[in-house]
Amino acid sequence: MTEPVLIDWNEDKRAEFRRGVMTARHRLHMAPEFTDLSLAALLDRHPRELTDICTMGDDPADRESWRGGSARNLTGMQLLEAVREGKLWINLREAMNRDPVYKPLFDALFTQLRRLNPGYRPVSVYGGILISSPRAQVFYHADVSETLLLHVKGKKRFRIYPPHAPWLNDRSMENILHKDQTEDMAFDTAWDADAAVLDLTPGSFVSWPLHAPHRVENLDGLNVSVTCEVVTQASLMKNAVLHANGALRRLGFNPRSTDARGVQALAKLAFSKAWKTAMKIAGPRKPMPKSEETFEVDLAAETGYRDRAAA
Ligand SMILES: [Fe+2]
Repeated sequence: MTEPVLIDWNEDKRAEFRRGVMTARHRLHMAPEFTDLSLAALLDRHPRELTDICTMGDDPADRESWRGGSARNLTGMQLLEAVREGKLWINLREAMNRDPVYKPLFDALFTQLRRLNPGYRPVSVYGGILISSPRAQVFYHADVSETLLLHVKGKKRFRIYPPHAPWLNDRSMENILHKDQTEDMAFDTAWDADAAVLDLTPGSFVSWPLHAPHRVENLDGLNVSVTCEVVTQASLMKNAVLHANGALRRLGFNPRSTDARGVQALAKLAFSKAWKTAMKIAGPRKPMPKSEETFEVDLAAETGYRDRAAA
């Protein structure tokens, strides 16, 4: 597919892009790279260390039900079948920017985004492919980088909440940046009244402001989406300030400003870098909380998976 990926960008969308919740249309769902056959082949060849397989419960407030697993003995086609029948969520991390079949689409998307939005200069971009079950959900969370989603297959309900208190609390973001918690955060179902609610169909493109919390409920069919993590000068600066604030708090100070501009922000950027260097010298990276694999995908099991014996 050499034609443009996005098809209806205009002045209004350009103005809202990265500032608010905005939607557009794309054509990835028509690309042969997203047929079942192509996706099954990708599942077969994508590096295992970049493949997350998860399952979860039904309660949107029960993020503790999120579990990691593996599918060591299934072909890509069998795994697609397990996703269609079960309650699984697979993230093929970096498939869009690493896999030779998908990378041309990813490059075309970002070439076009840069052309459509003068001044948009991502520092680095990563793209994953999410394949999830008809009733799977992703719990309330905020991503560290700017995020774009291109929905390709199935239907899902996407809720996006404002990127400030009470929906987003600076301490949570600090802890995420210090790797003391995953990107999941405390959630109150009453907040749904404050969310932008978008029902995504194949061809939907969505973007939202940095750190805006969101949650997703699949509504119908096998779901496939492309998610892009975009590191920009703005996200680096904001994260450095929040990271420095977290480091200062760990030293007993009480920083209040999260302003990512000015002299104080630049001082925090330097301090954040120094803290990261010191932590690297101090010891190995902490594993992410909850990264262990506790189940094996199993087509013969009624739930689609069986628990792995505790180590
Ligand atoms: Fe996200």
